Amino acid sequence: MKIGFAGAGYIINIHAQAARNNGAELAAVAEKFVEKVVPFGKKFRIKQQYETVEQMLAAGGVDALVIGTPNFLHAPQAIAALQAGVHVLVEKPMAMSVAEAEKMLAASAKSGAKLMVAHCWRFDQDVNWLKAQAARLGKIIRTKGYGVHSNWGPAGWFTQKALAGGGALADMGIHALDTARYLLGDPQPVSVYAKIGTHYKDYDVDDTGVILVEWDNGTTSYIESGWWQPYSDGPEAGTQLYGEKGFGQLFPTRLLLPNDAAQKVDEVKSGFKFPRKEHCPQSMYDAQMAYFLACIQSDQTPVPGGLEGLVNMKIVQAAYESSRTGLAVHFQ
Ligand SMILES: NC(=O)c1ccc[n+]([C@@H]2O[C@H](COP(=O)([O-])OP(=O)(O)OC[C@H]3O[C@@H](n4cnc5c(N)ncnc54)[C@H](O)[C@@H]3O)[C@@H](O)[C@H]2O)c1
Repeated sequence: MKIGFAGAGYIINIHAQAARNNGAELAAVAEKFVEKVVPFGKKFRIKQQYETVEQMLAAGGVDALVIGTPNFLHAPQAIAALQAGVHVLVEKPMAMSVAEAEKMLAASAKSGAKLMVAHCWRFDQDVNWLKAQAARLGKIIRTKGYGVHSNWGPAGWFTQKALAGGGALADMGIHALDTARYLLGDPQPVSVYAKIGTHYKDYDVDDTGVILVEWDNGTTSYIESGWWQPYSDGPEAGTQLYGEKGFGQLFPTRLLLPNDAAQKVDEVKSGFKFPRKEHCPQSMYDAQMAYFLACIQSDQTPVPGGLEGLVNMKIVQAAYESSRTGLAVHFQ
């Protein structure tokens, strides 16, 4: 499998390492800035270097493209690749808007090339342990999760609306949103209510937010997003499940099951280390890449694919709208 990369920044270095760890051929890179592409090409021994994805596609020779560029480039680069029959793994948020995301799905449906969205927490060992245990909690009444940077925030394109689409919600909150949805078995949203603002820095985009999502299975999810927050409940992302029969959480990853007969609470430990060395370990991205490659090889629709990415985009877009109008957004 010959893989091309769009961008040569932070996340693409991790994806390239993941492709290498999975035995794929690192075939080409498209990166706007020469000072970024040269060291990247050297590190991963990639000779085919282009300034744009369109040039890479015209030259041919890639089976799949991994997109890790600023958000405004996700849709145009993905659509160009999908139209050329090249499979796509695109970073979150998959697009700037629901309309763009829908065009990406249509391009994938038309050409048959796979579209996967890098909602990476679905490939994390702790998240998958909690998902496997969730039935022990009975019906999940509510979830509480966050994706925040405390006393830290990004600079550059991340903070410009025209390049990023949204701020901390589109960057960090979307991780917590997708994690909650994954743990709940991918329910559909019924309504979204949010308060989102810019309070910590002079940004063009949001740096703090709270979102309430009502799902069609009756569960309610409370999600926090932020950059430069003065406090965080734990590492940069975490989710808790409040079930009829008990409580489950990530980081530390465990269940707490009330044992009324013994008048105590039983703790079920995941056995995974906490705090762990890296909150976002290479192994999570390796597993994500392995799954992307397996979907292509076995002609399987990836999950998280365009559909999962689109639901997240709908919720993010509705949250911004709700915050602007002060009203809940109800989905049909
Ligand atoms: N899942 C995760 O854990 C995770 C972590 C970080 C970033 N991300 C996502 O990955 C994407 C990239 O984030 P990043 O932190 O790597 O950003 P970054 O700024 O480090 O990298 C982006 C790269 O794209 C390049 N670029 C800009 N314009 C380009 C163009 N026209 N053509 C080709 N390349 C161009 C930039 O020069 C830069 O090298 C974002 O969508 C972000 O949300 C995901």
